[in-house]
Amino acid sequence: MKFKKKILCIGAGYVGAPSMVMIACKCPDYKVTVVDINHQRIDAWNSDQLPVYEPGLDEIVQKTRGQNLFFSTDIENQIKENDIIFVCVNTPTKTFGAGAGMAADLQYWEKTARQILENSQSSKIVIEKSTLPIKTALAMERILASGKGDITFDVLSNPEFMAEGTAIDDLENPDRVLIGSRETKSGLKARSQLVDIYARWVSPEKIITANIWSAELSKLVANAFLAQRVSSINSISALCEKADADISEVARAVGMDSRIGSKFLKAGIGFGGSCFKKDILNLVYLCHFYGLPEVADYWENVVKINEYQQDRFIANILQSMFNTLAGKKICLLGFAFKADTGDTRESPAIHITRKLLAEHAEVVISDPKALGNAAIDLAQDGGQISYVEDPYRAVAGCHALAIMTDWDLYRRLDYRKIYKSMIKPAFIFDGRNIIDQQKCFEIGFNVFPIGKPALSRL
Ligand code: UDX
Ligand code: ADP
Repeated sequence: MKFKKKILCIGAGYVGAPSMVMIACKCPDYKVTVVDINHQRIDAWNSDQLPVYEPGLDEIVQKTRGQNLFFSTDIENQIKENDIIFVCVNTPTKTFGAGAGMAADLQYWEKTARQILENSQSSKIVIEKSTLPIKTALAMERILASGKGDITFDVLSNPEFMAEGTAIDDLENPDRVLIGSRETKSGLKARSQLVDIYARWVSPEKIITANIWSAELSKLVANAFLAQRVSSINSISALCEKADADISEVARAVGMDSRIGSKFLKAGIGFGGSCFKKDILNLVYLCHFYGLPEVADYWENVVKINEYQQDRFIANILQSMFNTLAGKKICLLGFAFKADTGDTRESPAIHITRKLLAEHAEVVISDPKALGNAAIDLAQDGGQISYVEDPYRAVAGCHALAIMTDWDLYRRLDYRKIYKSMIKPAFIFDGRNIIDQQKCFEIGFNVFPIGKPALSRL
């Protein structure tokens, strides 16, 4: 079959692959190829065991793979063959040198830019999709412009706003698609090519265009605002616990103000995921760089409250269980950073597990999708850790269970059966406020919610 357009994506991770799967699904006349340096990852994308768990993803991959969607490790040839290239390689926080712990580590990004330059035999549109500090497109442009000859490169910024766990729905029905470009003749032409791709399934009023720096900054700011809401409600949860108020009631009353809105006001053990902390630290670094320390401090506190919330949760477990966890068996229900994903990057469960191990507790970890990643995260940690997928087997013989992830499954467990299998007094620390806490208290548990008075007999 002759394809109308050929699109390449470099980076087959959580952002790149699902985004391309959606383009392939909506544009059957386009050939979409996803490449990665990681052979194992590409093999997995070509198998029945996809490397990313995302509701609805398997079905679309099955429909499109081998038709107009291809996964490959042949990066160089694919660059030659494709004129529209999305770049979705990872941009972790720098761990060394200037800006360590805050700035984005752009080495993968730069390597990709050089690889595109070396292998291009025709002009290309290069689209940055990973979240990046502002002015990254400029660096990309400079590298690409350093080549000789008459090949030209237009760099666009098209940040992805989908969230894990709901990626397919978010990609299919986005709140908006944002495309930033240079406002030159060729920049505008490149922009309109990308608009045409999204226009296949997204209504025109939702496709917004901007200058390239605004597009890059908008992504960081959107994530910072979302994380800020979570930290705001979590900070108030600490106050509720002291003041006998109920965080769910407060969130409901506050969220019904249409100016505030009800979403993203669930108190819990803090936000995780690969984006929020990284993007805020990035923003903080940029503010310092531009001589705005007050702005930097304002945003840095969003991260500090997130750490405080996790430490508060651990302190509460320790204090409620008679100030010693040594030799006690504690089951963590959930390890993923949120429900409906196997991703554990920056999951609060990692920090909480380490703190429990430091108290010499024995930790049993349960999760329907994230046990593989949990074992990788904790591979270097000493202490007693076991991994048990079945939640009933995981909690049996434990002194306490702590809910880490808002998996729907944990709302529906038979807590009477669980109570019977646990050591008494039995404790529940509901880090996500998802269970029927009153009912569990009546069963016999001592229940410690977030942002509400404890239901305890002790
Ligand atoms: C986020 C952004 O939502 C998305 O737009 C961006 O593209 C990538 O980063 P993601 O990290 O996948 O997406 O998940 P999100 O749903 O935003 O949740 C992030 C964290 O906040 C999770 O740990 C979640 O449990 C927590 N959270 C979210 C709360 O604790 N309370 C809430 O009310 C909402
Ligand atoms: P994200 O959540 O941003 O998608 P991931 O870490 O899941 O991040 O995915 C990024 C992918 O990019 C990884 O699979 C990684 O192997 C890949 N990658 C990194 N550098 C390169 C490169 N130079 N060429 C091709 N792929 C790369």
